[in-house]
This record gives sequence, C-alpha cells and structure tokens, in this order.
Amino acid sequence: MCGIIGILGSDAVAPAILAGLRRLEYRGYDSAGIATVTNGCLDRRRAAGKLAILERTLDAAPLSGLSGIGHTRWATHGSPTEENAHPHATDRLALVHNGIIENFSELRKELLAKGYVFASETDSEVCAQLITAYLQEENLSPQDAFAKALTRLRGAFAIAVLFAGEDDLILCARRGSPLALGRGEDEIFLGSDAYALAPFTNRVTYLQDGDWAVLTRSKFTIYDAKNQSVKRNETISLAMNTIVEKEGYRHFMAKEIHEQPDVIAHTLSRYLNPESKTVCLPETGLDFTTFDRLTISACGSAYYAGLIAKYWFERWAKIPVEIDVASELRYRDVPYTDNCGALFISQSGETADTLAALREARVHHQKIAALVNVAESSIAREADAVFTIDAGPEIGVASTKAFTCQLAALACIAIAAGRARGNLKAEEEGRLVSALLEIPRRIAEALKSSDAIKEIANEIAKATDVLYIGRGMNFPLALEGALKLKEISYIHAEGYAAGELKHGPIALIDKSLPVVVLAPHDRHFEKTVSNMHEVMARDGKALLISDKKGLAAAGDVWASIEMPDTDPDLSPIVYAAAVQLLAYFTATRKGTDVDQPRNLAKSVTVE
Ligand code: M6R
Repeated sequence: MCGIIGILGSDAVAPAILAGLRRLEYRGYDSAGIATVTNGCLDRRRAAGKLAILERTLDAAPLSGLSGIGHTRWATHGSPTEENAHPHATDRLALVHNGIIENFSELRKELLAKGYVFASETDSEVCAQLITAYLQEENLSPQDAFAKALTRLRGAFAIAVLFAGEDDLILCARRGSPLALGRGEDEIFLGSDAYALAPFTNRVTYLQDGDWAVLTRSKFTIYDAKNQSVKRNETISLAMNTIVEKEGYRHFMAKEIHEQPDVIAHTLSRYLNPESKTVCLPETGLDFTTFDRLTISACGSAYYAGLIAKYWFERWAKIPVEIDVASELRYRDVPYTDNCGALFISQSGETADTLAALREARVHHQKIAALVNVAESSIAREADAVFTIDAGPEIGVASTKAFTCQLAALACIAIAAGRARGNLKAEEEGRLVSALLEIPRRIAEALKSSDAIKEIANEIAKATDVLYIGRGMNFPLALEGALKLKEISYIHAEGYAAGELKHGPIALIDKSLPVVVLAPHDRHFEKTVSNMHEVMARDGKALLISDKKGLAAAGDVWASIEMPDTDPDLSPIVYAAAVQLLAYFTATRKGTDVDQPRNLAKSVTVE
C-alpha cells in the first residue's frame, strides 16, 4: 500500500512534500519519510509512527533542497520501524515504493552475494540496491540503470527515485499501483493520486500500467513497458485542494455517520426522479436486458454492500447474481459467458484486489460496471460504465457513509434493471422510489438513538467477543456490523446468518457473550426472534435492534435499540446507522484510535 509523492520544485520542497503526505495518510500510517537532494547531496528524515512524528523530526532538523520524494507506509515486509521506513537510500540514490516486490528474496540473495549491505527488512530496499548495482557495476546512466532494474522486478509497484548528483531529476514507474504526474509552473509533481497533488496543480497525467517516466523541472517524458516514448492525456483533476475537517466532531467517523442523511439524499438525487417516482440512471451504455447473470466483486464493507444488493437484483430484476470477495474471484475459474455483466464496488476505487478482479473480468470480455466514490480512481477509469456515489471524502478508516451510499445507489441500479427487464411494474417501482426517498429521514431518526446506543456500548466494551445475527438481507448487515466492531474496537466479532447459529456458533454462547440481533418486524422476524431466544436460553446477552412493533413483540431482552419503521426491503440501509454507532461508542469507550485503527489503512493497494 503506502503513499508516495515527489516534487521538482522552485522552493524548498520538504514542507510541500509533507503537505502532500498528509493527504496520502489514508494509504498507511505506520511510518513516514522524506529525502531531498541539495547541491547534489542526498539527505533524508524518517520516523516510525504517524506523520505528526515526522513533522516534529523535521522541525528539529529541517531538510533543504528543491527536489525531493516522500512516503507514508503501510508495513508489508518488516515491522513499522524507522529502519524500515522509506525512503531507502544508498550512497547513489533514495527510493520510495508502494506495492510488493514478489521476487525480492531472490534479488536480495543475489545482491548480498555481491557484497551489497541491506539496512532494512523491506522488499522495497532491493529496488534501491539493484539500481545502485547497475549504476556502479555497469556504469549505466540513472535512466538506463532504472530501466534495466524494472525488467528484473516482479509484483505490483509504484516507485520514485532521486539520485545523488542530480538536482533536476526524478525517475518513476508504475506497475499495478497507481501513479499520477502533475504539471505546474516550472515545477513537476508525482503522487499516488490526484488528491495528493491537488494543493499544487490540477493538471494531472495518469501513468498507465507498465509506464515509467523521466521527470525534470521543465517537462516529463513517459515510456511504456517496451521503452517506447508515449503520450498520455493530461486531464484537469477535480480533486479538492481543501483538507477535510472534523467540524466539531471528536472523530471523522462520528462526523461521517452523521452526514449520512445528507449524502444519501445527494446520492439518491443522482438516480431518482421524485416527481415521476422513477429511477433515472445516467447513460452508461449498460443494458441489463442482455445479461443472463451478474457477477459482483468487492472487498470489506463494499463486499457486504454487494451481498445486500444481490437480494435486490434477484428479487426485482430476476438476474442471478454471483458475488465474490475480490481477492478470491481469480481462484474460482468462473465459467464466464458473453452475456454476463460484472459489477465492481469500491469506495476508493483503488483497492488492488478489486482492480485485479476487474482486470480478470476484462480478460474474459465481460461488460464492466463500477460503483465508486472517487470518480477519478483507477477502477472508474478502467470500467466501461461508471456509477458514482456522493458520499464526499471518507476519512475514517471504517467505512460508514460510503457503505450506505453504495446501498442507496445499488438499490436504484437494481430497480432500473428490474424495470428494463420487465420484471418490475411501474407501481412497484413507484413504491420503492417513495421508500428510498424516505431513507434520509429514517436515518436521521435512527441517529437520534445515539445516547441509548452509547450506554449499551459501555457494556459491549467489556466483552471479548460479540456475535451479530440477521436473516435475509440483514445477514450481510450482521457481517458488516461485526467488521465495524472489530476494526475499530479490536473486540473479536463475527456475523452469522441467524439460522446458522445452531449449526455450531451456539457452542460459544455463555453469560459473557453479547449477541446483536438485527430483526426488523418483517417476514423473517419470528424466525430470527426464535434464534434470539435460543441465545437467551443459554444465558447469552441478546441486544435486539428492531422497530417499535418488533421490540413489543419480542418481550424482555438484555438490551434493545429502537429503529424507525422502514420499508422491509430497505431496512439494512437504516439499520446500518445502529451498528455503526454501536461500534463507534464501543471504540471510544475503549479509547482506541477510531479514525486510524492499528494495522489498517483506508485504501488497500496491495493484493
Ligand atoms: O475502497 P474500498 O471500498 O474498495 O475498500 C474496501 C475495503 O478495504 C473497505 O471497505 C474496508 O473493509 C473498510 N475498512 C471497512 O470499514
């Protein structure tokens, strides 16, 4: 994963690189570092931990230099120490890397045998040593040494290199991991995304897979994988230059949970016509009538959104849906047909597993649709049809508003598919559109249960394990609830189909185990409540999340959270707010780092 940035500037670049890194911290925050070159001499500062620590290091020992590279790390090979922090340096160069060098151990052995000395445990350092070896042993130019080293590297990477003795040169390459170049006035920039470059320029050129580039202050030249000079289009990026603030909330996650009524309304306004009570999808060329199957792939919360959408596509559009965790799709030898659509869901649009699954579908000539929050992302750029959500920047690592906006958009797409395929009558579409238009208000009502949820969270915080159960489309929400709790509170949690409990997990139930029961008063209610009673009969603590009717019908429970009445087909969108708040308050009670939980990153750009 990791974020990288490089600047050939007209002023001291370290402060600007730090500003760029601040915008890339969502890609990892285990350690950070900057290297610059001044009058031909390389210098660097690195620090384990968050960027704020590097900032303090730089305050104590500033870096001069008009050219520099920076890095924020999500550790893959080697623990998050200063030694393993990038940039990695030799006496000839400094290098930053995002991704994984799969053949690093073979290259490392080869270089060790030649006497090269490694200062870190990372895979990245082999790139620095390998280029150095070609500079020294074969007396190659930086450009030739770099190009030769690229032919030896396997895996996915974005790399940028600064050379001793070269005040006006950065070389960079992209294979798998994203890399964008930016053009300013007598300045050139590179970064993992356009958002990192936004404070400096909106003139952005994306490198394509296999490209590498030679950057000087006045221009950049791009080469493809065959070392042919190529032109790539410059686009005007819409990435915002502003830094998103917490606006009075203690954490971004709290702010993002409370933004949901607004951002869902914005997302719906993109897809719904409130006057005619119809869904109006943007023109994408996607024709649902031609599909005899839809495959959905995504990771984490986006995958759970896809699981919920499977119920909608099958119910309203009668399209059989296959859904895979994106990292597994390729291992299944899917028998693709020509009439199969492939939908990829990703908040960031940069998730490496999802991108790899998309490329696999491309090889099999699938019609590819993407649902993203970042319109300029790699996944959006590679899809045939792009649907966007209007969640705005999601900073908290735990996805909240993006998840519910994905659900809102997916419901609209499934309704449109149902109408196109003649399976959904106008009357039913009108009913569903009216129910969708009500969702922002229902979520706002659900958020009013905040104080009650906070009290329950104080009890949940004492648990070491928590189960979540639900039926029908609330089963995927149980998975999402468990994911939210474990990623920010570090409490072990699992989601189960309510009916599955008795097939094994019920053995875990004792008086210390809270079980969160997601059970709106719908056609599944009685069965789910029976499962809840099976928990209570074994002294488990049942926390029932339901509406007024459900809570009244269920009788006494350990704890309950009341949700507003909601259309049964859409209840997961509203009930999501309850599981998000429960996780949030449990985490704040435990005092964890809610927005940047340990070991995680917002955008997961390694496979
Ligand atoms: O950017 P994406 O939606 O592709 O990210 C997918 C997952 O990495 C993401 O949903 C992750 O599971 C979140 N931390 C969940 O809160």
